[in-house]
Amino acid sequence: MKASEIRKAFLDFFHDRSHTNVKSSSLIPHDDPTLLFTNAGMVQFKRTFLGEEHRPYVRAATSQKCMRAGGKHNDLENVGRTARHHTFFEMLGNFSFGDYFKKDAVEYAWIFLTEIMGLPKDKLYATIHEGDAEMRLGPDEEAREFWARFLPVERILTFPTKDNFWSMGDTGPCGPCSEILIDQGEAMGCGRPDCRPGCDCDRYLELWNLVFMQFNRREDGVLEPLPKPSIDTGMGLERIAAVIQKVPSNYDTDLFAPMRARIAEISGYHYGTDPEKDVSVKVIADHSRAAAFLIGDGILPSNEGRGYVLRRVIRRALRHGRFLGQDKPFLHDVVVKVMEAMHDAYPELLENKSYITRVILNEEERFNETLDHGLGLLQNEIRQLQTEGRRVIPGGLIFKLYDTFGFPIDIITDMARDLSLGVEEAEFQKLMEKQREQSRMHWKGSGEREVSEAYRQLSARDVSVRFLGYESLEAESEVLALVRDGKAVQEAESGTAVEVVTAETPFYGASGGQVGDRGEILFEGGRLTVSDTLKLPGDLIVHVGKVEEGRLTTGKRVRLKVDAMARKDTALHHTATHILHAALRAVLGDHVKQAGSLVAPDRLRFDFTHFAALTPSELDEIEQRVNDEIRTNEDIHVHVMDLEEALKTGAMALFEEKYGDRVRMVEIPGFSRELCGGTHTHRTGDIGVFVIVQETGIAAGVRRIEALAGRHALAHLRKQRGILQTAAGLLKTGPADVAERVEKLMTQQKQVERELEALKASLAGKRSADLLERAENIGGVKVLVTRVETDNPKALRDLYDRFKERIPSGVLVLGAVQGEKVFLLVGVTQDLTARLHAGNLIKEIVKIVGGSGGGRPDMAQAGGSQPENLQGALDLAARLVGEKLSQVG
Ligand code: ALA
Repeated sequence: MKASEIRKAFLDFFHDRSHTNVKSSSLIPHDDPTLLFTNAGMVQFKRTFLGEEHRPYVRAATSQKCMRAGGKHNDLENVGRTARHHTFFEMLGNFSFGDYFKKDAVEYAWIFLTEIMGLPKDKLYATIHEGDAEMRLGPDEEAREFWARFLPVERILTFPTKDNFWSMGDTGPCGPCSEILIDQGEAMGCGRPDCRPGCDCDRYLELWNLVFMQFNRREDGVLEPLPKPSIDTGMGLERIAAVIQKVPSNYDTDLFAPMRARIAEISGYHYGTDPEKDVSVKVIADHSRAAAFLIGDGILPSNEGRGYVLRRVIRRALRHGRFLGQDKPFLHDVVVKVMEAMHDAYPELLENKSYITRVILNEEERFNETLDHGLGLLQNEIRQLQTEGRRVIPGGLIFKLYDTFGFPIDIITDMARDLSLGVEEAEFQKLMEKQREQSRMHWKGSGEREVSEAYRQLSARDVSVRFLGYESLEAESEVLALVRDGKAVQEAESGTAVEVVTAETPFYGASGGQVGDRGEILFEGGRLTVSDTLKLPGDLIVHVGKVEEGRLTTGKRVRLKVDAMARKDTALHHTATHILHAALRAVLGDHVKQAGSLVAPDRLRFDFTHFAALTPSELDEIEQRVNDEIRTNEDIHVHVMDLEEALKTGAMALFEEKYGDRVRMVEIPGFSRELCGGTHTHRTGDIGVFVIVQETGIAAGVRRIEALAGRHALAHLRKQRGILQTAAGLLKTGPADVAERVEKLMTQQKQVERELEALKASLAGKRSADLLERAENIGGVKVLVTRVETDNPKALRDLYDRFKERIPSGVLVLGAVQGEKVFLLVGVTQDLTARLHAGNLIKEIVKIVGGSGGGRPDMAQAGGSQPENLQGALDLAARLVGEKLSQVG
């Protein structure tokens, strides 16, 4: 049975038992800032378990994309070393939301494994929770009883909380669990005499975890009962596939075969001949899946949070590629196999093929550069160590290479081994641990807003707000709740800031990049201004505002009025964003993906994936295309349809967005189709005009365009024209001639500067000639000792050069002051150097100005720090020169 057949059998089995087959959610948990990644099937149902969200079904089954590489569930370091660990994997799960409980969960699992999968009954075991005094839970006799219908009691084992209590994270739904194990026989075991169920070798393999969801763990650690006991189960597809396919490791299943084959083709290494290299093959196979799915779900490599995990996964794979002799990019190639192998279940992967491979290739190239750079650095450091006679590479250095340059420790150890050097491993590990601690502390959640208690309670009461704003900008409704500082209140006085929830509203709550509406809420005897509108999970729309007059109370009838002008301007920018998106893909290629956006009344910002700065001509072309599309004045159509149907039309869907079952597709015929909940214009022509204001890079592989539409675009153009006119006025010319005029002025300016330089030089020449005139004649030798007024020490050298040219036999001593510094120069013509040594002379006189120095016999320069003593130094020089010359003369 192929893995895809197992997946299907599982979903069909539960479908036949009234379970709705629900699509896997994204690896980025939606509306859950507490989790790094979706790490289990139940994550997308968390709010349903908590009773905060109601679904049209009480039973569900999924095959869920999961990632366990960070946070509470982290298997990253184990991948490759074992037959079972993965970063990315698929979890098959069935769920009951307050419907069936232990009895059916046990029975379904048993029937599926023994009858559908045909596993031998006599090889199966079940484990149950032994109870926990602190949680006030007794041994799970109920579960034991249900298992006893299928299994002899000696194959029902009791385990403590550590093994048989499951939690999603530090907070959230949790409960005691029951696991099904299969005895794979001694050959698969560790061979220890005490090997029995619970041993972490592969003999007694845990197949399926049935969690009896009963509690919500709160932030303060308290376990509060869930509204209704529920069921959450999880079975790793890779594991069950390995068991059914009777292979020793998950990596031997058909799920990994295509990647393994490609790695063998690329590297020439065949799996199964060298255990160390097998580790590398497994790591690459696993990580290529993780990378493909993470990028497919909208994560990009970066230095923090989710992006950092992705970066580590890619780099780890590349490093293992090097162990197989791959130092050129190869991972993007292996990843194509992932897409081909998985596209049946996850069609979105192949759709994003060019994008995913580009992102990986880009990261591969960057990493190779990093490695080359790091290797250079390491070689230098090693040379240094060797000259110092040290034989161990310090842990601090390894950590720095690792942390700053992403340089893998394995490569360092390899190099060390080649050079017979040791590695300070313990110190390195200590620093690593510290770093892990810090990053644990730094993961403060995804930055999404935690929904406050008041709103969670509203959702739990099934309150949702009907949005009327696609059709109207004004409506009447009733106040359902008032919230201040996260707490529900009954009334709000004039002058207070308050959040208002009404049964219906025309106000658009910020989402999908579009900002929230503003406007006002009127009520009898009062008025409230709305400065923003939020959209919270569970279809809650919240008006954020301030009571200007009167007193607002819950239950009151109100009239809601959206600021129509702001809304209209926002709509222009939103439609323009869709056109821009399509134009970018047309001009740059279909690797372009929306990575974020802001749609406001007065501007738009569009972030997208692309790997180079846009050229001016690309920008022109994009702007041109958008404006062309505006002028076609197409009608904009909004279709409400099923998600699946919409995706089939090829509509662009955002990575992170979780769409309900019914979605809105905004279509500009022949140009763009996007799933979007935002508000739009009726026709493209309404936008009027579109201008790109700026293009920048915001992260590796992500660019940002800022642009304006409608009257704001026009205002921008008008402002630019104003600037141009002012410039033209100053230049006394017309706007059309500004550039030419500026160019001419710049040429003139350069010319003038050149002339000025020449004048200065000739002036200096004349000055120095004058100066040289002043040289005294002492016994046929010209002597000049003088201070030069200049702020540029180079002037001393120039004077010296002239002196040499003109004076056949002479001595020159110059001093100059620049700020706090003194510069001295002594020059002696060659014929006199035997009698007077320039270097020795300067050594004497520089002391007077608080410096030291020396130099050649014919020329010496030195500096001091006491300008006030310059004259003294020059006097001394005059005296010494006189003495020297007279001694012999
Ligand atoms: N949520 C449970 C698990 O992940 C089923 O093991």
